[in-house]
Amino acid sequence: MKLAIIGMGIMGCKYAKMISDGQVTGVEITAVTRITPERKEGLKEIFENGTKIFETADDLFEAVGQKTIKVDAVLIVTPHLSHSKIAVNAMKLGLHVLCDKPAGAYSRQAREMCEEAGKHEGLIFGMMFNQRMNSMHQKIREIVQSGVYGTMKRVSWTITDWYRPDGYYASGVWRGTWDGEGGGILLNQCPHNLDLLQWICGMPVSVQAFCNEGKYHNIAVEDEVTAYFTFENGATGTFYSTTGEASGINRLEISMEDALLVYEKGELKVRELKVHEAEYRKTATDYFAQPEGEWKNITCEGTDLQHPGILQNFADAVDGKAELFVAGTEGTKSLMLANAMYLSSWKKQMVKLPENLEEEIAFETEYEEEFAKKV
Ligand SMILES: NC(=O)c1ccc[n+]([C@@H]2O[C@H](COP(=O)([O-])OP(=O)(O)OC[C@H]3O[C@@H](n4cnc5c(N)ncnc54)[C@H](O)[C@@H]3O)[C@@H](O)[C@H]2O)c1
Repeated sequence: MKLAIIGMGIMGCKYAKMISDGQVTGVEITAVTRITPERKEGLKEIFENGTKIFETADDLFEAVGQKTIKVDAVLIVTPHLSHSKIAVNAMKLGLHVLCDKPAGAYSRQAREMCEEAGKHEGLIFGMMFNQRMNSMHQKIREIVQSGVYGTMKRVSWTITDWYRPDGYYASGVWRGTWDGEGGGILLNQCPHNLDLLQWICGMPVSVQAFCNEGKYHNIAVEDEVTAYFTFENGATGTFYSTTGEASGINRLEISMEDALLVYEKGELKVRELKVHEAEYRKTATDYFAQPEGEWKNITCEGTDLQHPGILQNFADAVDGKAELFVAGTEGTKSLMLANAMYLSSWKKQMVKLPENLEEEIAFETEYEEEFAKKV
């Protein structure tokens, strides 16, 4: 697969290195856009092999259109607000697209990418949700979705290991701004968690969130979020994340009818109840006792292939050798969730997630009106 990497900043260069180091096979970096001399020096082996440099994505697309360069696919690693325009222009040229998270800054951008992808038969459009490659995350999803412990009652996720010092926000003019990044922790760090949350537990039906802007850093966007979700079956969820708390933890709890699952520091434990709690509740005569249960450590022999895993799967899908692991359409969900959290926080009210296209479009319009007041 002849790949062009669009956006050679921190992450774009990391992807180039993964490919040139041989962590991904069957991929040749044919072109990159906009690279600083220092970064170019660090990747000189790819340029020795003839990789071309373009200033912008548009310059690259012009060359592809004029057939002066052969490219099969693009990897988009630019600031969030530019993802959808670049993806749509690439798709119009028939190029396969792998887009880094988030799909955009607002959900209409994600929908537009999906609509364009749908117009091109056989075009592969994937999202870089590398945390789905972690077999522990896959195991948690399998447990919850199988219903082996009954339906979900509650999910709580505390994620304070996204700590960032002030220098991080100063490292790029787009960081920590509404018009550059499109948001704060919800759009930069948490897309992974919001994606996993909806992948494991399903999409919430409503959310009430509280975002604190510039609480710990001198930034316009939020660096702390607390949210409350409801799910279709009546289950509830809480979600907390910040980039300003040290001694970070990452603890996921999922309570189901017959078990409690806890995932922390890479360890997965489940407390299986010996009786059905709902029956116990109705019949127990000891008012202060609890249903008995037993903790079990869950291990899995899988892998955690992360970014190289997604890159390899994308290349294999383009080659027709594998099914795409994270379809582009998945990008809309976590982005919509993030947008709903912002809207709720700005309007100080609970927000219902759209259930159909008509509601989606109304939601997008309302979100973009409110977003415009921030930029
Ligand atoms: N999947 C992950 O684990 C992960 C981790 C970090 C960042 N990211 C994502 O990667 C993307 C980039 O983040 P970063 O930290 O590398 O940012 P960065 O600021 O280091 O790099 C962005 C690069 O894009 C370039 N750029 C901007 N507009 C462009 C255009 N129109 N055409 C070509 N190049 C353009 C900039 O010059 C810069 O080099 C973001 O979407 C971010 O959320 C993903």
